[in-house]
Amino acid sequence: MSETIQTSTARVADPCVMIIFGASGDLTKRKLVPALYNLVRHGLLSKNFAVVGFARREIDHDEFRHRMTEAIQEFGTTEFDSSLWDQLESRIYYLQGNLDSLPDYSRLAELLKQVDEECGTRGNYLYYLSTPPSFFDKISSNLGAVGLAKSEADSTWRRIIVEKPFGHDLDSAIELNHRLLTAFDEEQIYRIDHYLGKETVQNILVFRFANGIFEPIWDRRYIDHVQIMVAESIGIEGRGAYYEESGVLRDMIQNHMFQVLSLVAMEPPISFEADAVRNEKVKVLNAIRPMQPEEIIRHTVRGQYGEGLVSGDRLPGYRGEPNVSPTSTRETYAALRLFVENWRWAGVPFYLRSGKALAKRDTQVMIQFRRVPHLLFRGSAAEELEANRLIIHIQPDELITIRFQAKVPGPAVHLTPVNMEFRYKDLAESSPATGYETLLYDCMNGDSTQFHRADMVEAAWEIATPILDVWEALRPRDFPNYAAGTWGPRSADALIEGDGRSWLNPSL
Ligand code: BG6
Repeated sequence: MSETIQTSTARVADPCVMIIFGASGDLTKRKLVPALYNLVRHGLLSKNFAVVGFARREIDHDEFRHRMTEAIQEFGTTEFDSSLWDQLESRIYYLQGNLDSLPDYSRLAELLKQVDEECGTRGNYLYYLSTPPSFFDKISSNLGAVGLAKSEADSTWRRIIVEKPFGHDLDSAIELNHRLLTAFDEEQIYRIDHYLGKETVQNILVFRFANGIFEPIWDRRYIDHVQIMVAESIGIEGRGAYYEESGVLRDMIQNHMFQVLSLVAMEPPISFEADAVRNEKVKVLNAIRPMQPEEIIRHTVRGQYGEGLVSGDRLPGYRGEPNVSPTSTRETYAALRLFVENWRWAGVPFYLRSGKALAKRDTQVMIQFRRVPHLLFRGSAAEELEANRLIIHIQPDELITIRFQAKVPGPAVHLTPVNMEFRYKDLAESSPATGYETLLYDCMNGDSTQFHRADMVEAAWEIATPILDVWEALRPRDFPNYAAGTWGPRSADALIEGDGRSWLNPSL
């Protein structure tokens, strides 16, 4: 008999049309269409489902279908099965339109009626904003103006997925929330964060709250500090124009990493209902006090990569990338020391770091427990005992490791750290995914647990904005300050070493 406990049964998603604004962009072909195809493979997409691509390019339905067929063959994460793809392909439509033009939204309304009739999608519409953020406001207000934002009957729904970046600071995020909320209700808005679609990230909640042994020691009495690292070995890969406006704090830390931090630090929710989980997550962000300028100087470090070798390949420095100013002061690396000021975490530093062009791609959360009192091992080599660590490897390795001390067999007392490991691949053969599958599926079913709520986005910007302001005011003079292919600037080591701790760098 299987020992697997199912807490929910996967049902086929609601019938609906997914309308992708900015459908000719990279995201559609690299992530969205492969994710939809994977949902078909898993039998989770309704047979009454359709896609409408909306973009400026002058092509027709057939040409768009043809391009999506090429995309799935190039970017699909699972084996291509033409009979499965045919089911989806025949339900893909295209509308050539201008995001600014109201008449084009009236044409969209007409097309949606036709699709409802042809595909039985029942008037349920999921809008996906895969466009530059400057269009978010226009799209939502135009949808509102032609009556597509609110559903006509109680039995149908309208939902909107908004891609990042959600604002570029606190004021712009508040403004954007305000504007979206003039056409849509908060329950209809799904602010997507693809990190929350990762299995290993989703498992943090289960790991913490479905096991009785970790929660009692999950606090300042037993935990010395927490490290969260998202290291990327790639540079900015042709996204110079975007990155010059963004930088790593906006691109990775304010959204993805703060979400991971809240999952690690949150209190147990009273249920797995969306708002119960999100209420606890936002409390964590609210418990991180925005820093004063002098604290920002002490608790943060930034960097920019210069030329270097990543896995043997030469990478130009950031300033040598296309569309990047040769004197750019944009940060491609940041390390922060944050404090969650509540009863559970007071005094426990959370060290966050992320960067481009680092030595290796690796995302992990490391919980370091307090050291044991050394009395027992005084005078022996064991005096330098390493503290226990629990490491949640998010990607590319998917595993959880507990590191503890063991006695090396023999007459003398020699200790050595050993690992106990759980590897996801030993549990189930998972088919490679894009990370968007669960999120699209959840949205089709009206489950917003894994999406940001307006107050969460604003709370995250409240922490990030003062840092950005200080960084803007104090231009760095030492950029580039780390070579591509290393673990970041020396000042980042100093940040943690000043506390008598050190970064846990993955082995190469
Ligand atoms: C995106 C960022 O949100 O996440 C990119 O804009 C980054 O700059 C990417 O490379 C990383 O995602 P993943 O899933 O590869 O860790």
